[in-house]
Amino acid sequence: MDIYKIREDFPSLLSKNDEGTPIVYFDNAATSLKPKCVMETMQDVYINAFGNANRGSHIMGVRASNVMDTTRENVKNFIGADNKRNIIFTKGATEALNIIVFSYASNYLKEGDEILIGIDSHHANLVPWKMLCEQRGVKLTFFYVDSKGEIIYDDFLEKIKRKPKIVSFTPITNTFGVIHDYKKIIELSKEVGAKVVVDASQSMTHIKFDVNKDDIDFLVFSGHKILSPQGIGVLYASDKVINDMNPFLYGGDMIDYVFEDEVTFKNYFEGFEGGTQNVSSIAGLNSAIEYLNSIGLQNIIEYENKLKKYFVEKSKEVEEFIFYGPDDLNKRVCVFSFNIKDVHPHDVATILDSYGIAVRSGHHCAQPFMRRQGLNSTTRASLYFYNTIEEIDYFFDKVKSIKKVLKF
Ligand SMILES: Cc1ncc(COP(=O)(O)O)c(C=O)c1O
Repeated sequence: MDIYKIREDFPSLLSKNDEGTPIVYFDNAATSLKPKCVMETMQDVYINAFGNANRGSHIMGVRASNVMDTTRENVKNFIGADNKRNIIFTKGATEALNIIVFSYASNYLKEGDEILIGIDSHHANLVPWKMLCEQRGVKLTFFYVDSKGEIIYDDFLEKIKRKPKIVSFTPITNTFGVIHDYKKIIELSKEVGAKVVVDASQSMTHIKFDVNKDDIDFLVFSGHKILSPQGIGVLYASDKVINDMNPFLYGGDMIDYVFEDEVTFKNYFEGFEGGTQNVSSIAGLNSAIEYLNSIGLQNIIEYENKLKKYFVEKSKEVEEFIFYGPDDLNKRVCVFSFNIKDVHPHDVATILDSYGIAVRSGHHCAQPFMRRQGLNSTTRASLYFYNTIEEIDYFFDKVKSIKKVLKF
């Protein structure tokens, strides 16, 4: 894998801040950069395939429909689904999770039922469940993690004994970058008959899912974290659940027939894609998947493992660096939450920004998790396969200067 050649595919890597300093982009867990091919594909849709998909018989509409069809097929293969009828395009992971909660769970659950979710869930996989539980008298239970962010299995086993109807969790966390044993969680959940929701927003370039073999009922992810445009996400709903889901958005395209006194709806994905679709972003998602496939998941993982090892070694040079997450590198990805002793994370992020280094600071949309860790906020540096060892050197050089900048 020629990293310098790969970097040429990402025009944003040449971007500079307002002072002319080159950007070091370490906020990839929030959103990734886009390769040229994705942007070109999107532009091509607006030039050559600009019709409304699934409507009208003119060539521009037909091409738009073909874009959706091809992308659906590629997404199906990307996640190991059997049939593309189970792939629903959404605005992102947040919308996909809301569809699961309000189109499926609200039908399927009765008062007194239980839902089990990870305490380390992103708010997108927590707040919708909480809203549903409040409305329906359903109980929301959390399984807990230890101070490193790893699942406490004794606790999980206790909670799963209560036979929750749904288990929803994230295989890789956006806070500490922990890799959970997702197959084990699915297996234990299935033993008690729970339906399983996998929030794969942080996982798609680390884990090769096989939704069919892994027996996943629902899987969601956002395109923008895997090189695609913003505003496009995926909801996979298996055959075991998709026919028990109500439509989410009512309107054009998702209906079969509309009479004055009756409406009938389409089945499978078509029933969930009401209105004009975001065809250029769907094309961008397709292009991103093809690009990722051309690099190869294993190559990405191996390269990121080198970055991870180097980052952790370098962090040891900074005395004030407080590192969160598992010590075992095999249990984490290149998402590094940290604090600098006696410095507020927002100050760390602002100072790093002045050197052109983009990181995130705050609660990372995971307040219950952060509270249990006794943290208000951390700074998070999240790397991707286009980042380099040189960028890590530059980052730590500037991290070392933070206390001097603050004059203590
Ligand atoms: C684990 C996880 N789930 C869900 C989301 C929500 O994704 P989006 O904002 O793209 O809908 C994020 C975004 O950071 C995330 O990290």
